[in-house]
Amino acid sequence: MIDFHCHILPGLDDGARSFDESLEMASIAQSDGIKEIVCTPHIKKRYATPTLKAIAEAVQELQSLLQSKRIDIRLHSAAEVALERNLADLVDCGEIPTIGGAERFILLELPWERIPRYTSTVISELISSGVTPIIAHLERYYQVIVDPALAWEFVEAGALVQVNSGSITGMFGYDAQVTARILVSHGLVHVIGSDAHSSGRRSPKMSAARDLVKDMVGEEQADKMFRLNASEILAGRLPKKEAPRAYKDSKPGSWRRGLLGKLVFYLSRQLRGLR
Ligand SMILES: [Fe+2]
Repeated sequence: MIDFHCHILPGLDDGARSFDESLEMASIAQSDGIKEIVCTPHIKKRYATPTLKAIAEAVQELQSLLQSKRIDIRLHSAAEVALERNLADLVDCGEIPTIGGAERFILLELPWERIPRYTSTVISELISSGVTPIIAHLERYYQVIVDPALAWEFVEAGALVQVNSGSITGMFGYDAQVTARILVSHGLVHVIGSDAHSSGRRSPKMSAARDLVKDMVGEEQADKMFRLNASEILAGRLPKKEAPRAYKDSKPGSWRRGLLGKLVFYLSRQLRGLR
């Protein structure tokens, strides 16, 4: 398996706090069957944004440590990049780490509070610049939980979708779990990541989610989401996209769309201390 979203690099964001913790995380990942990890520290305003050089150096140092401890995991440099209106310009200026080669990709985080109207414009601008956005943990945003058809619109616009393994198993609550399963069963998921932040509760584990996805859509599709597509992206190739099936059913009750639904969603996130 390839973990496509992991805060394993120490001291760059709210992920691992030390190289010791990074090593513990890698050891947990290895025991769970993960062979490669895409290192995705946050690039967003509330964090001291790491430079491309700092990310590359941390990856190199951790990779050497893994070798010395005989932990057989390959690391890749990347980032979880927060949406900005001028993101395509920032990528053009070389300020944002991209994944791949001939085809380039970024892992794009949308704002938790509200997905802005200009998101589809930024997606189009990125694609015009030759960069495919992969939207991070799409199943966890309130607007997607309320209306999973939004995911179909993003995919139709050319974006790829990453889902958290913990959402599939229920670690991020019922809403995220139901939404993740809708996305998986409608061909709207391209890569999976643990979004691990520590060696504790949010550690890098994906095998339980893989078993569930295999039961839902079969071994071949599960392999695409947990390994093959990520491998294509890392090699700089656009993975073969399945034709997504549009989601038409209105899943939640109408109260979920209003202020009360939003309040319940945010309170439950706060109470569970989720990031
Ligand atoms: Fe993350």
